[in-house]
Amino acid sequence: MFAVYAAEPKPDDPLAALTVGERPDPEPRDGWVTVTVKAASLNMHDLWTLRGVGIKAERFPMILGCDGAGVLDDGTEVVLHSVIGDPDWSGDETLDPKRTLLTELHQGTFADKVIVPRRNALPKPAELSFAEGACMGTAWLTAYRMLFVKSGLRPGQTMLVQGASGGVSTALIQLGRAAGYRVWVTGRSAEKRAVAADLGAHQTFESGARLPERVDAVFETVGKATWSHSMKALKPGGIIVVSGSTSGPDANADLQRLFFLQLRVVGSTMGTRDELADLLRFCASANLRPKIGTEVPMDQAPAGFQAMADGETAGKIVFTR
Ligand SMILES: NC(=O)c1ccc[n+]([C@@H]2O[C@H](COP(=O)([O-])OP(=O)(O)OC[C@H]3O[C@@H](n4cnc5c(N)ncnc54)[C@H](OP(=O)(O)O)[C@@H]3O)[C@@H](O)[C@H]2O)c1
Repeated sequence: MFAVYAAEPKPDDPLAALTVGERPDPEPRDGWVTVTVKAASLNMHDLWTLRGVGIKAERFPMILGCDGAGVLDDGTEVVLHSVIGDPDWSGDETLDPKRTLLTELHQGTFADKVIVPRRNALPKPAELSFAEGACMGTAWLTAYRMLFVKSGLRPGQTMLVQGASGGVSTALIQLGRAAGYRVWVTGRSAEKRAVAADLGAHQTFESGARLPERVDAVFETVGKATWSHSMKALKPGGIIVVSGSTSGPDANADLQRLFFLQLRVVGSTMGTRDELADLLRFCASANLRPKIGTEVPMDQAPAGFQAMADGETAGKIVFTR
């Protein structure tokens, strides 16, 4: 079948490992369903995979794509939950030590077909297109958990999103605005800040800019480049929710500020199947649609990867079949 895959790990030149070609059809498995992929979206995770981060060398070649929406053999339209847990685990799947994301152990969604455990295929709300549904499983689910499960923020309080135009950032902005938070955003260029403003950000700032007042919560995926600003942006007792470190993980902890202002730093990863079901219902009932910056046929995936590697994002990058 057609597939976009990582041929081998290439730590220093990830795009050189990206291959558009043919891979074997998935073998049916008991308790798993076959999904004919209609749309899938790109995440930074796919670039990490090309670099060989978070995946063992013997697992290559690996079909890329953590997110997807498509159709089951019986015609049911589905959105995929990409956290594949141990069948014996009960409770929050994100805490299962044996969990993997699609593309870490099992083949991903940038292909004609993908197989997933039956419980990982959720009914797609009719209100969402396949392309919109394909944005939900990673970036939007991660943003949903950061905001509504981890932050403890109440409507009316002020949140700061570090980064304006990326998948998780745009999801945080749209969800935060829909939930009634005061949404502030930093972006690296006027163009990127305009994306955030169009999505409903109340104020936008240059990266690292002094803010008019301190905020209740900061949402971090950038890491080293913005961490010090995030720590300084918080009110006493404020919280940083962090789910990524794109610019590097080794940020200065700023421990004196942490204890003296009684700040809280909380990690967040992906979300549970139930949280994805709630997110899908929220999008349908609040008339919320993910910002898609680029939507191209899957055979043009390399252009999307190049744009993400160059930081040229304006919302989610979606590939269709
Ligand atoms: N833990 C999890 O479950 C989970 C889930 C999803 C994503 N993530 C992580 O979250 C991060 C973002 O993923 P994504 O898919 O949203 O990527 P993306 O679409 O490429 O977005 C990248 C974002 O990072 C910002 N950024 C990058 N470098 C920066 C720098 N040096 N200074 C300031 N801002 C910078 C960009 O801000 P501008 O708009 O200003 O350019 C943009 O908003 C990745 O590290 C990813 O691995 C983690």
